[in-house]
Amino acid sequence: MSPTRKDLFPAWYAALESRHLKDLKFAEIRRALEALSTVYVQRRDAITQGAALDSAGKRAAFALFYGPLHFLAVRHVMEQFRPRKPFPKRIIDIGCGTGAAGAAWALAVGRKPSVRGYDLHPWAVQEAGWTLRQFGLDHKVSRRDVSQAPMPGKKDGLLAAWVVNELREDIRIGLLPRLMESAAQGAEILIVEPVAKGPAPWWEDWAGRFQAAGGRSDQWEFRPDMPESLRLLDRAAKLDHRRFKLRTLSVNF
Ligand SMILES: C[S@@+](CC[C@H](N)C(=O)[O-])C[C@H]1O[C@@H](n2cnc3c(N)ncnc32)[C@H](O)[C@@H]1O
Repeated sequence: MSPTRKDLFPAWYAALESRHLKDLKFAEIRRALEALSTVYVQRRDAITQGAALDSAGKRAAFALFYGPLHFLAVRHVMEQFRPRKPFPKRIIDIGCGTGAAGAAWALAVGRKPSVRGYDLHPWAVQEAGWTLRQFGLDHKVSRRDVSQAPMPGKKDGLLAAWVVNELREDIRIGLLPRLMESAAQGAEILIVEPVAKGPAPWWEDWAGRFQAAGGRSDQWEFRPDMPESLRLLDRAAKLDHRRFKLRTLSVNF
């Protein structure tokens, strides 16, 4: 983050805590986070059946834990990219979840772009609207499948953060040529994924296409500056995000 720009993360995180710890105790969130992490690591096929966000506890755990981590991770990537262009003017965030990753990108750009979020889950749509309001970003969030989301024009950006891996195969296959068409027009595109624990056979194919379009494939490892209660949750749920790994595909940055 630029040293002259105010860091809006701490105030957002404090607001998130007030919002989600109002009805649930720390121990309940911790248990829900363990269940959520099990879905992500061991029961990936259950994600398409909605298992990740099927209880209030898991939704709160996602918002309080993965949202802030995803924000810090995308901010880290943007710091490495140091975008200098006067755009994107608009960021399309597909599978936006709580909107945290899209907000991190928008805040890293000189003039604040507006964010258009799309997600299938009604709770995510509502939560993303709340997040983007907290950051004072112009936004519109809609309930829509990735396959129905608009693609970015030449001065837009598109973000797909921790979502491509969750898509049904036909939707994922249909998305790539649409992304490449936008990339050819000059749109900035950023795909963020976990470093694979299971097979992600599509990754190398996608990486090849991004590289052929002049883009990059990167793997990152960084130490997120987590607030104390996020660190406690990480430890209590026996996760370990002191070093956070992710990988990205990007083009036109
Ligand atoms: C792991 S979350 C990531 C959320 C967000 N991008 C982030 O980085 O925090 C994946 C999100 O993608 C959404 N999703 C999954 N399949 C989708 C689809 N076909 N169309 C729209 N959203 C989808 C889920 O509802 C969920 O909110």
